[in-house]
Amino acid sequence: MAAPWKGLILAGGTGSRLYPLTHAVNKHLLPVYDKPMIYYPLTTLMLAGLRDFVIVSSPDSLSQIKALLGDGSQWGLSFAYAAQDRPGGIAEGFRVAANELAGHRVALILGDNIFYGDGLSKRVQQATQLETGATIFGYEVADPSAFGVVEVDETGKAVSLEEKPRKPKSSHAVPGLYFYDESVLDMAWDLKPSARGELEITDINRAYMERGDLNVMLIGRGIAWLDGGTHADLFEASQFIKVVEERTGLKVACPEEIAYRMQFIDRAQFAELVDESPKTDYQRYLKRLLKSL
Ligand code: G1P
Repeated sequence: MAAPWKGLILAGGTGSRLYPLTHAVNKHLLPVYDKPMIYYPLTTLMLAGLRDFVIVSSPDSLSQIKALLGDGSQWGLSFAYAAQDRPGGIAEGFRVAANELAGHRVALILGDNIFYGDGLSKRVQQATQLETGATIFGYEVADPSAFGVVEVDETGKAVSLEEKPRKPKSSHAVPGLYFYDESVLDMAWDLKPSARGELEITDINRAYMERGDLNVMLIGRGIAWLDGGTHADLFEASQFIKVVEERTGLKVACPEEIAYRMQFIDRAQFAELVDESPKTDYQRYLKRLLKSL
């Protein structure tokens, strides 16, 4: 039987591009319209069916993040926390969380990556069917040079992968959402730092590609992929979520709702969550759901 899945959420880094917002607050706790940023990647993995998570952040930020998320049991989840002393690249997250990840397949998501759209649940659930190898995504962007870039041949097979290339070979950026079999841990220990001194996730993906074990799922325009890297990105992500939520009357990335819809909690537990929430618009939304679901 394939190893169980664990979600790895990376919420470290200095957030220097968002200074001074991030001077005293971890970037992943900043608002994206009406919710903390980290709710978005967390719920993306919840929609994939994952319930067991490790959250990696700096020692200073972990207490803030724990204050928000707790042990996860309120949403039928389980959270462990691992401290990363200094940012050393995305792939370092595997080393920092090695004890918790041992013997698991790992779904890695970057704490500032926001996904929304029709077919997202299906895509991420499909990615969890993976038993060996890795699955990454490819997303058409206007400026791929700011990202990891994947080039695929006409059969959909990856033929090259580059991190922030000056001359991108394709317009497909690789979003910060990756699914790996349990061999990823050994790969992370074998990795050497790149020229910029970081353990690069692109090097892990390239290792899978070279052994013929990398799947690339191209995601089309039905799905939005945003991140909160800069002040403008953060502002635009908030505007996007506000427009969608106001138009539909539904919330994006509401963990209480998703926990209930995914049956991670039962109706009585959902009702209790609703009762316990402060009397706000957020609670009014949950109350409305409780009546209608
Ligand atoms: C990282 C990865 C890059 C990926 C991007 C997605 O870049 O290194 O491959 O495309 O996340 O958000 P960063 O945003 O940390 O510069």
